[in-house]
Amino acid sequence: MTDASSSPVPPVTIHRSDYRPPEWQVPDIALDFALGLDTTRVGAALSVVRHADAPTPLTLRGDGLTPLAVCVDGESWNDWHMEGADLIVDLGDRTHAVVEVDTAIDPAANTQLMGLYASNGMLCTQCEAEGFRRITFHPDRPDVLSRYKVRMTGDKTAFPILLSNGNCIAKGEGDDGSHWALWEDPWPKPSYLFALVAGDLVVNRDSFTTMSGRKVELGIWVRAGDEGRTGHAMQALKDSMAWDERVYGREYDLDLFNIVAVSDFNMGAMENKGLNIFNTRYILADPDTATDLDYDGVQGVVAHEYFHNWSGNRVTCRDWFQLSLKEGFTVYRDQSFSADMGSAPVKRIEDVRLLRAAQFPEDAGPLAHPIRPDSYQEISNFYTATVYNKGAEIIRMMATLLGPQRFRAGTDLYFDRHDGEAATCEDFVRAMEEGGAIDLTQFRRWYEQAGTPRLTLTLSEDQGQWALDVVQTVPPTPGQPEKLPMMMPLRIAAFDRSGGASLPDTLVTLTGATQRIALGAFGARPALSINRGFSAPVIVDFERAPGELAWLAAHDDDPFARYEALQQLMLDTLVAAAAGNAAHHPAVIDAVTQTLRGRGDDPAFVAEAVLLPSEAFIGDQMLTVDPDAIRRERLALQAAIGRALEDEWRAILAGKAPPATDLSPHAKGERRLRGVALAYLAATGIADIPALVFGVFSDADGMTERQAALATLAHGDSDERAHALDIFYQRYRDNPLVLDKWFQVQAWSMRPDTVEAVHQLAEHPDFTLSNPNRVRSLYGAFTGNQAAFHQADGAGYRLIADLVIALDPRNPQTAARMIPPLGRWKRFDEARAAMMRAELERILAQPGLSRDTTEQASKSLLG
Ligand code: PHE
Ligand code: ZN
Repeated sequence: MTDASSSPVPPVTIHRSDYRPPEWQVPDIALDFALGLDTTRVGAALSVVRHADAPTPLTLRGDGLTPLAVCVDGESWNDWHMEGADLIVDLGDRTHAVVEVDTAIDPAANTQLMGLYASNGMLCTQCEAEGFRRITFHPDRPDVLSRYKVRMTGDKTAFPILLSNGNCIAKGEGDDGSHWALWEDPWPKPSYLFALVAGDLVVNRDSFTTMSGRKVELGIWVRAGDEGRTGHAMQALKDSMAWDERVYGREYDLDLFNIVAVSDFNMGAMENKGLNIFNTRYILADPDTATDLDYDGVQGVVAHEYFHNWSGNRVTCRDWFQLSLKEGFTVYRDQSFSADMGSAPVKRIEDVRLLRAAQFPEDAGPLAHPIRPDSYQEISNFYTATVYNKGAEIIRMMATLLGPQRFRAGTDLYFDRHDGEAATCEDFVRAMEEGGAIDLTQFRRWYEQAGTPRLTLTLSEDQGQWALDVVQTVPPTPGQPEKLPMMMPLRIAAFDRSGGASLPDTLVTLTGATQRIALGAFGARPALSINRGFSAPVIVDFERAPGELAWLAAHDDDPFARYEALQQLMLDTLVAAAAGNAAHHPAVIDAVTQTLRGRGDDPAFVAEAVLLPSEAFIGDQMLTVDPDAIRRERLALQAAIGRALEDEWRAILAGKAPPATDLSPHAKGERRLRGVALAYLAATGIADIPALVFGVFSDADGMTERQAALATLAHGDSDERAHALDIFYQRYRDNPLVLDKWFQVQAWSMRPDTVEAVHQLAEHPDFTLSNPNRVRSLYGAFTGNQAAFHQADGAGYRLIADLVIALDPRNPQTAARMIPPLGRWKRFDEARAAMMRAELERILAQPGLSRDTTEQASKSLLG
């Protein structure tokens, strides 16, 4: 069998409004796998029940499959035909039947990593969203829920471990060196949650006793040698299980919970029932190879997948348009969990930074879509920052509007009412309305309208009484020229800077296109703290003098608002400078100094607050992005802050770093601040700095400091740079996750020759297009390097288009994810825009382009 599904498909658009309930349900499925890397035989027995009133054929979706035999109720059956890749079985006027279909697949040839594939000699599956149809013929839609029995047979030496969903109910050995296992999952589930793993794996075992006293066996399965790096993931799993009981009253529902780590994986991880499958990068961590951020990533993703057991598995999605029902809610749940496990303000800052870096640009570009899209060509393209991260913000706003008790009443109602069902976003909102006693009619627009709302604010005064006028606009997006105002919670406060009474934290519910908020009496213009905690995912336009922002950065009682004030101050300076106006560095330097000196007890917060906004975020504030001016001005400000506070930065680095094994929030914060100090000092160009940074690199007892120092050196052209890169490579060349970092820091480099360097790294013997992590570490990092990707001669665009063209036949999902950066052409000058469009056209002209890439490239071209 060849990998047939990437052959040319005319784009078909699926519409949300076309949803019809399934005509056939499949209450029970028995699967029988005869496992082999090159050939796996799959026998499927589907018990089907007709739900349509009148006779109708059974449509079983397939992707690259050939039926080898078809039986109905035990008899060989001829009333079937293929419609494209799908199998249509005519069952006459039957209302019930057992339909058996045999197929054979070639896991080793499956380079898409969808369906059953081979990774490092093991076999594993990925079925979300529509991968199950690459294993066997099936309706393969999330509103068809079945009980699964899975039998698998394989060679004992090649596949000593055989895992699937649920519980292992029997196993045995053949006399030919084979063995078999029978797994049963008692919970009905959609096909996208099916999983199977077979391979030579070792396990880290532990257990968790649930609130009702049931003991659950936990297992994290990895390749031999990696088991020592699974401790953090195991702790995160147990913490997540306890947290979901405490915060949402949700208990785990099987006696077994397994996680398997695989190195070749398109995404972060997958919540298959009772058998999560993870990208190794979100399981393996030890201080020598993982940074503090990597540790946080492991904790967050383990929690995310575990939380899906309720928000996703017990209550699943009716159709893929409802994806945010499970993803937005689950991201909100993992964000809240991580906030509880560490520093809540820092977590909020990180979440908002990610939203602004990934989701705001998406919402402002040609691929903008509502969190519940209305149509798609390829659903894989909709696993987006909008569905996930904006989706989480929508849930967070409901939680804010309701308050903790009523929100909990709403989620209790949601889980109880829809347990075992395939639900919709509308079901969730209705449960919030009823459980929380609130009218969310207008709020539903967040599910319908794309685009980031903009709030334009003006302060006014009348006889000592101050008021805030808010004008809300939602920008036009593809297919949605006109927008209506959204309902949103806006947290505000107003301070009297001379020490008089202030307006304390207040929650305002915005509903109108224009709205006036009374602030009360102030002797002079109050300092306004707006959208505190980022209560609504919007852009706020509000002109404030540098002095007012500096005052807020120092005095606001909401840490997030302090962070925002300082960021705004930096942003105003940088945007003005990049647009050719004078930069006012002194105000920024003063505010950074104050924040640094008053650092008190939360070094992580200080480190976040004094970090300059990213080049991309600066660009987002400009009418036309000027990548070169942005880099120049940002480096100039960085150097100015570096020099002005040189003694402080040196003092931070002269202190002793906490031991890498200390993962307390404080120790992590100290390391983060040391990383910021390195970057500021390096920007000064002072002669002894490369040696100092190299010293940090050599002395580092863990990956956080080692990587921070390496990344800092990578921007320059010192001898220390080459030396450190070489040491790092030699030390970690056999550890793929760490080697990814080696590629990444070079692709992030601010050196002028980075495009050329990426070209050369792609030729490096350790580079491969077969591993998505490696592709992202080089090319994904490169597209995040604004000045390099947008190099004026267009070489960066060409590099990415060449990659997409080479990768698409092999792994269309990963290829399609590289396209959005090319779609931002409207935001750039005419010369760059023309080159970006030309590369999109060149991609589209490729014969046999996948549906994934075709959809992303053609929509990106429209602008
Ligand atoms: N559902 C997974 C998650 O969010 C993501 C995923 C999507 C993984 C598609 C693989 C394929 O946890
Ligand atoms: Zn998820």
